Amino acid sequence: MARIIGGLGTTHVPSIGNAIAKGLQKDPYWRPFFSGFDYVHGWLAREKPDVAVVFYNDHGLNFFLDKLPTFAIGAAKEYRNEDEGWGLPVSKSAAGIPELSWHIIEKLVGDEFDVTMCQDMLVDHAVTIPMALMWPGPAAWPVKIVPIAINTVQHPLPSLARCLRLGRSVGRAIESYDADLKVLIVGTGGLSHQLDGERAGFINREFDTLCLDKLTVDPTALTQYSIVDFVEQAGAQGVEFLNWMAMRGALTGRTQELHRNYHIPISNTAAATVVLENRPLPQRKAA
Ligand code: DHB
Ligand code: FE
Repeated sequence: MARIIGGLGTTHVPSIGNAIAKGLQKDPYWRPFFSGFDYVHGWLAREKPDVAVVFYNDHGLNFFLDKLPTFAIGAAKEYRNEDEGWGLPVSKSAAGIPELSWHIIEKLVGDEFDVTMCQDMLVDHAVTIPMALMWPGPAAWPVKIVPIAINTVQHPLPSLARCLRLGRSVGRAIESYDADLKVLIVGTGGLSHQLDGERAGFINREFDTLCLDKLTVDPTALTQYSIVDFVEQAGAQGVEFLNWMAMRGALTGRTQELHRNYHIPISNTAAATVVLENRPLPQRKAA
């Protein structure tokens, strides 16, 4: 059966892609952020996942405001990127694993999550930047991906509780997949940030810390926040944390925070990187 090795949460700010393209990882502005990935590289080298299931939000590349699914899942052999207008080089493509995607879709619909199924899907910086951070360099990424897009853009948004439950359903689906695969769960975006309007540049370190603390030990506690509460506390784009809630939901076992890096700011964003371990629960003995 497929096994979930753990979860990774990371910011996906597009300018990180420019810093990578220009080789600025050791520059004083960028170093505190990129150094947070040293641990991640060692962990991934040890754990060697075969697949990454990536919860993210599309920012207008594949979906636009005219048609915006609440939850969409890729079932393609390959996911391409295109010019998104951020001045970034177009990213290499990610390989898909359609058989696993369809298995997850079957289980999600069985659990009454009526997801949009995408056999053709472009992925934007919210997928490609985290991939480039996890596996730097020109070589093809060493995992296949299942991208799952959550609407964090056009209100009404799904609640934190709903995204946690979506993640739980995905976690159960993965663990019922009959193949010897190691699966990493990724949640991208956040933490607090607001890109436009009167509060542009808004960041809330105290609230981010609370979210990260609760994420590992008691994610259900965060479901008390409505989307409006969350926007107030974390900024209009801080709701990208919904992707982190889904990631956490998919961790089916005992969860422990192995690594955290938090740095303010990268561009307009409070940048965070977290690694969560997922240890299988002891098997219950048959009665
Ligand atoms: C920024 C952050 C984002 O999450 C994003 O999608 C685009 C830009 C930023 O801080 O610049
Ligand atoms: Fe974003």
